[in-house]
Amino acid sequence: MTSVIKFKPDPNIGIMKPLRDWIDLSGYYSFKADPDQVGEKEGWYDGFEGSPIYVHSSWNEQNPVWDLYFGKAWYLKKFYVPLPAEDGVAWIVFEGAGYLTKAWINGKFAGEHKGSFSSFRFKVDVKQGWNALAVEIDNTPTRTLPVWDEMPNALFFHYGGIQRPVRLEFAKEPYITDLTFTSSQDGRFSIATKVSGNADVTVSLSRGNRVLYEGKSGNVDDRLASPEPWSPENPALYDLTVSTGSDAVLERVGFRSVEVKADGIYLNGKRVFLKGFGRHEDFPVTGKYMPGSVLIRDFYLMKELNANSFRTSHYPYSNDHLDLADQMGFLVILEAPVAGMASYAHRNPDAFFSDPSFLKDAKAQLAEMIAEHKNRPSVIAYSVANEPESVTQASKAFLDELKKLARSLDPTRPVTHVSYRLLEDVDYDTDDFISINSYNGWYSMPGDPHQGAIKTRQVAEELHRKYGKPVLVTEFGAEGIAGIHSDPPVMWSEEYQALFIEEYVTQLKSADGVCGLHVWNFADFRIPQNVKWALLNRKGVFTRDRQPKLAAQKLKQLYGEIPAYY
Ligand code: GCU
Repeated sequence: MTSVIKFKPDPNIGIMKPLRDWIDLSGYYSFKADPDQVGEKEGWYDGFEGSPIYVHSSWNEQNPVWDLYFGKAWYLKKFYVPLPAEDGVAWIVFEGAGYLTKAWINGKFAGEHKGSFSSFRFKVDVKQGWNALAVEIDNTPTRTLPVWDEMPNALFFHYGGIQRPVRLEFAKEPYITDLTFTSSQDGRFSIATKVSGNADVTVSLSRGNRVLYEGKSGNVDDRLASPEPWSPENPALYDLTVSTGSDAVLERVGFRSVEVKADGIYLNGKRVFLKGFGRHEDFPVTGKYMPGSVLIRDFYLMKELNANSFRTSHYPYSNDHLDLADQMGFLVILEAPVAGMASYAHRNPDAFFSDPSFLKDAKAQLAEMIAEHKNRPSVIAYSVANEPESVTQASKAFLDELKKLARSLDPTRPVTHVSYRLLEDVDYDTDDFISINSYNGWYSMPGDPHQGAIKTRQVAEELHRKYGKPVLVTEFGAEGIAGIHSDPPVMWSEEYQALFIEEYVTQLKSADGVCGLHVWNFADFRIPQNVKWALLNRKGVFTRDRQPKLAAQKLKQLYGEIPAYY
């Protein structure tokens, strides 16, 4: 029996939570793969015989039969709405499903969405009593975002399914449709609220039970006296409540300032060194869904390794994930799902980047990402793409369009693109800071991490000199197969991985213009089967089930020696 969860304010949850009635639609569903793509024609949205599956998680590892299934598949769930739908609206809200998602309520089409890593909602009609939700997911590997044309070369495993929370949400008119909060560490702030109709909007800022500010408008520019600035050391959060009288939302916000200067990234007026990781949302059996308990472990492990930062490589992470970043104090580079292009574009960059539908999709998913996470204190910058083949004018035009859009949607945050073409890249001029991935000592200069690190230092310093911008090393790392040991350190051993990381941190921590280091990767993660890797990318300093490799101990010491502010 499904019950309407009457909203109870919970101080511990993170980010924008509608203070609305809702019904959680996670749980067991009926599932059926549709390799012949006949489901819609045969009306599966009215019901079908399927087998049990759990939502929310990827379908792949829940049953070996579905493990390597990429294509169309259907979900069906019956749910009970105990109360008559009062005046107002109801939405089916998906926090992350895909790649292509279509939904039906009681056989009536509700809507469709492209993209796996941002929330989306469809207005629906539900009735009191039993209702049925049918969902068609299509993750056929095509020109999606990230790109999967060249499956074997893909950067990470192409999971499919309803991979993040799904719920039914109710609101009464007039309801809040958008909320933007910007602030600086000295207490100045602005609030901009959009509402579905005329309403007397009120706003308040509180901390714990103390209300520190109240306003009688949804659009405010004001100042809070001596707020506690948000930082990794002190992630002070304030509750921003916005109400129309019949609807309300809560946003957990912070007061902090981010600024990029030639010599570094400044947080609250102090130059901060980003110490952290490239991560992935990847875990055994749940696939792309990261259970809260796994996230909790990850964040304690990152803190233990003296890290203060991570990039959401290569797509926006879940609200649970970023709620913890706000709450536990991590500086996040939020990356759009524009990745996986290297292999294909390498051969024909112009065809790729001048494809208007690809640009349209990239813009849509970048805009969704910013709309969803723009009010988070932890998000300090946007990355519009990972390793785009940014060596041609076509790729430059493509990336500059994305950066222009990011700045128009949110002029408060710096923007970058993540390059692996180093000195050949033609698109650093429109970045606020430069981001480079370097594997000298692994893919190039294999077996020589010392010279590899020195080469990377030279490249970073040359880019800093040439563009007068700080340089973040967004990826560096080596495969380390857990349990493989060798003396002397030889490639693939834990010792080689630890040595590689030590060489890079030693060379780059004091390099001119380098403002941070993100090790690739926090943990091993699944990748498509191919000749180069044994099931997993093993550049994690932790195993896929979050056990430390030698590199983890080494990194704890190395990051511990780098002051957070310099
Ligand atoms: C790339 C890419 C990562 C990938 C890594 C690797 O730089 O951005 O997604 O996993 O290289 O090859 O390990």
